[in-house]
Amino acid sequence: MTSVPQIMLNDGQTIPQFGFGVFQIPPEQTAEATSAALRAGYRHIDTAQMYRNEAAVGAAIRDSGVARSEVFITSKLSNAAHLPADARKAFDNSLSALGTDYVDLFLIHWPLPTRYDGDFISTWRTLEEFYRDGRARSIGVSNFQPHHLRRIHQECEITPAVDQNEIHPYFTQDDVREFCAEHQIAIEAWSPIAQGKVLDDPTITEIAARYGKTPAQVVLRWQIERGDIVFPKSVTPARIRENIDIFDFELSGEDVEAISALNRNERSGADPDKFDWIPA
Ligand SMILES: NC(=O)c1ccc[n+]([C@@H]2O[C@H](COP(=O)([O-])OP(=O)(O)OC[C@H]3O[C@@H](n4cnc5c(N)ncnc54)[C@H](OP(=O)(O)O)[C@@H]3O)[C@@H](O)[C@H]2O)c1
Repeated sequence: MTSVPQIMLNDGQTIPQFGFGVFQIPPEQTAEATSAALRAGYRHIDTAQMYRNEAAVGAAIRDSGVARSEVFITSKLSNAAHLPADARKAFDNSLSALGTDYVDLFLIHWPLPTRYDGDFISTWRTLEEFYRDGRARSIGVSNFQPHHLRRIHQECEITPAVDQNEIHPYFTQDDVREFCAEHQIAIEAWSPIAQGKVLDDPTITEIAARYGKTPAQVVLRWQIERGDIVFPKSVTPARIRENIDIFDFELSGEDVEAISALNRNERSGADPDKFDWIPA
């Protein structure tokens, strides 16, 4: 297997372009799934405070024998903790749950424009503190649309290193990708296989058959060739191995275009301008 490419972020740090997502993995299954991913060669784990499984991710990394410095860890701020004092406490809790003194990347999980008087600026300035004190090597956002990013760009000092958004063949978010390309913000694509919904699309199954690869591998390879960072989730060891086995082939430009053309502007997750859920 050829190795996972590294992407240089706008702050000079590098991130493995491919990793493992742990959304919706119950805490009691997370250590096992993360261990399987580390055994399969994954070196980038995407978790969040709201997933409630940071402690299990940290335990799996410690038990794996892989050095902390070899694993890129991302976590994200809870929707309940946008006020600066709460964000500081929540960030401390993330580090202690993960059992580490730094995260590689820390994100505002959702912009929540209808909460906190629409103020994600003071939240972002709090993340800037974590970046400056070195406990977050990079900072970024998630589910931010161009109009949210524009405010950060105009009102804050640091440009987010990444914007993590729902992106897959049925929802390509070209406007977000264009804005980010223009401002050197790397794109992370969440739900890269749309939680399985794109896998029986005839265009994708036809391309997969031609390359002798599975539909999931073709979709993940499409994301890699478009330059996005991806971290599919699976609790199934065979799929965990299948998903990372995408570095021994390349899609033709024509096939990349054919998959991009499947866009239907169809979200499977929440709309960032409306989403206002706060965990208890
Ligand atoms: N920032 C955000 O707001 C946000 C939102 C959503 C997700 N994310 C991040 O993005 C990561 C990935 O997104 P996601 O978990 O929503 O969805 P996903 O990775 O697109 O899909 C996961 C689903 O697809 C199945 N699957 C995985 N590999 C497969 C394969 N090779 N063949 C067939 N089915 C396969 C999994 O089943 P099994 O597990 O049963 O194998 C699971 O049901 C998350 O884990 C999280 O880290 C972030």
